[in-house]
Amino acid sequence: MSSHKGGQRLTVKDEEGGQAEVFCYQDLILPGSFTDWFDPEEKLESIRQFKYREGDILQCSYPKSGNHWLTNLLTLMLSKGSLETATSVNVSLIDFTKPTERLHKKPSPRIITSHLKFERLPEEHIRRGGKVILLVRNPKDVAVSYYYHGNKDRFLRFSLSWRGCLGYFCEGKVPFGSYFDYLNNWQKVLQQRKDLDIHVVYYETLKQQTLLELQRIQKYLGIYNDDDRLNAIIAKCSFSSLKSDVDSGKLRTLLVDKTSQPFIYRKGEIGDWMNHFTVTQNEAFESVIKNKLQGSIFQFQYIPNVPKHQL
Ligand code: A3P
Repeated sequence: MSSHKGGQRLTVKDEEGGQAEVFCYQDLILPGSFTDWFDPEEKLESIRQFKYREGDILQCSYPKSGNHWLTNLLTLMLSKGSLETATSVNVSLIDFTKPTERLHKKPSPRIITSHLKFERLPEEHIRRGGKVILLVRNPKDVAVSYYYHGNKDRFLRFSLSWRGCLGYFCEGKVPFGSYFDYLNNWQKVLQQRKDLDIHVVYYETLKQQTLLELQRIQKYLGIYNDDDRLNAIIAKCSFSSLKSDVDSGKLRTLLVDKTSQPFIYRKGEIGDWMNHFTVTQNEAFESVIKNKLQGSIFQFQYIPNVPKHQL
């Protein structure tokens, strides 16, 4: 542990020789590279003071919950033009936009995405009742997706084994901290701030009942696309379509690995955790969930529903 820019750099190590560097700042655990780009105090303050514009949507999620997918869906749902020529978009988290003010140039309606906890979000957006969408994905698939992302992202100093990553994920010593604390923080907000109208979307529901979920989202946002247009949007934002846009270079992304290959569209499934957790790891993880998310209002789906015709 070493002092740095008002916080502490921490390197966690696993038994296989892998390691990950995080930056602990006040209540936050950030990627180790955060301070290469930002002065933490200044950056966090600029996020907090970010000026609200009518129509802004704040899209919040813990990493690996399907942020890119939802942003792409929302972008097209908010667009007016023909979908024929629409291309997919990159996600630029307010947490990493440099400088934060660059988002001022974005045309309305803006989708502002963040992995930060509630108290760190743009204050004016919350005070003026701006729309807030919280995206939630089951923790087992998030942990697996995290492991792959961590090891691919050339900006993260992260090389943990699956076993090491799972252990630190449970302890919350990974960039953006504990998944469980993140959800508990939102639970408190949902229960105590009844004045706020926050819309919760589950990755799994979005995956299995996409049309219904988009209808719910547009009702919340007060926008309308007919079902034909929504179905066309769903097709444009399917996993294979988004993946082919980045793989083919049609959409350039900064999220590439050391060999410049994009990696964000990895598998896009419910239940990939079953290919990674051992029985023992699953039992231990279940008890972490039980312990850390006691009385949680969040309900997780870990296994895909089997379509009726296959029963
Ligand atoms: P996997 O690693 O399990 O494949 P985020 O955007 O928050 O980083 O989340 C990335 C996860 O969302 C990845 O999960 C990615 O494959 C998945 N994802 C992206 N687009 C998707 C889509 N159209 N349908 C389903 N999952 C998608």
